[in-house]
Amino acid sequence: MLTLLKLLKDGRFHSGQALGAALGVSRSAVWKQLQQLEAEFGLVIHKVRGRGYQLANPLVLLSELEIAAATPSASWPVHVYDSIDSTNAEALRLVGKGVVAPFIVVAERQTAGRGRRGRQWVSPFAENIYYSLLLRIDGGMRQLEGLSLVVGLAVLQALRELGIAGAGLKWPNDVLVDNKKIAGILLELVGDPADVCHVVLGVGINVNMQVADQVDQLWTSARLETGRSIDRNQLIASLGEKLRFYLEWHQSSGFAAIQAEWEQNHLWQGRKVALVAGVNQVEGIVLGIDQQGALRLQVDGVEKVFSGGELSLRLRDDA
Ligand code: BTN
Repeated sequence: MLTLLKLLKDGRFHSGQALGAALGVSRSAVWKQLQQLEAEFGLVIHKVRGRGYQLANPLVLLSELEIAAATPSASWPVHVYDSIDSTNAEALRLVGKGVVAPFIVVAERQTAGRGRRGRQWVSPFAENIYYSLLLRIDGGMRQLEGLSLVVGLAVLQALRELGIAGAGLKWPNDVLVDNKKIAGILLELVGDPADVCHVVLGVGINVNMQVADQVDQLWTSARLETGRSIDRNQLIASLGEKLRFYLEWHQSSGFAAIQAEWEQNHLWQGRKVALVAGVNQVEGIVLGIDQQGALRLQVDGVEKVFSGGELSLRLRDDA
């Protein structure tokens, strides 16, 4: 079915006969596959008598070659999938099978994309970036401190380079534009964090998505913000460059050196917030973060520090 999609991706008309010949199947088998493409991938295909079939929107698919060509410095190996449950899960499976880190996994779609706090990450076909960078960490806990926040800075810089000047960070690692989420980050770890472990840096960026009924929070995409279609291969290359820069800085100097830059980009500095952990919540004013990336809140006049993957912030000013 994906071979057929690749034949159609140029957005031109292709006759049923030509498609059948290229695939070595009958015209009715082509018709069946077209129906499946529409149903399974949510694609719109024009069917015009006498002209054939045409994708309503031409597709630029992910390509390892194009990602490498757009990466000026030596790039990490990239594994490209048409469809996978989760790029984070696949990266962890690959390392379990002995694939040597570092490497990247990207996919056209995820059937079970994972978000923070057990949520699902909506991952439609060929529209967004679903990216996982698998790293080996053997420097102990210091190399993990603030790591997810550092990834947020890299994603932010890649989006700014597209011209999305209003993008900023929300602790711990959401990227927002006007309070709408444009990217999310999920780190998962296997092994002993105090000794040798592997960590997968999972990044989801809403790139060309224009409608998504299943997303249950305010969201936007790079296309909605810039008004143009974005080349995902180039954005993946740019994200890799930014990650390389920030990860090297983090490794050589520790998170403390990056803390100030992170705070400068934190959209909710000084704002009144509720910090939510399951059914519990604490209200306070955001003072910033500490040298490990934990959140500093002023609660009833007293500074308190919070950390943990299950926490999330909500604004209270407008409540
Ligand atoms: C969040 O909830 O904000 C985090 C979302 C992280 C989604 C990305 S998409 C690529 C990688 N694979 C996953 O299954 N999740 C992350």
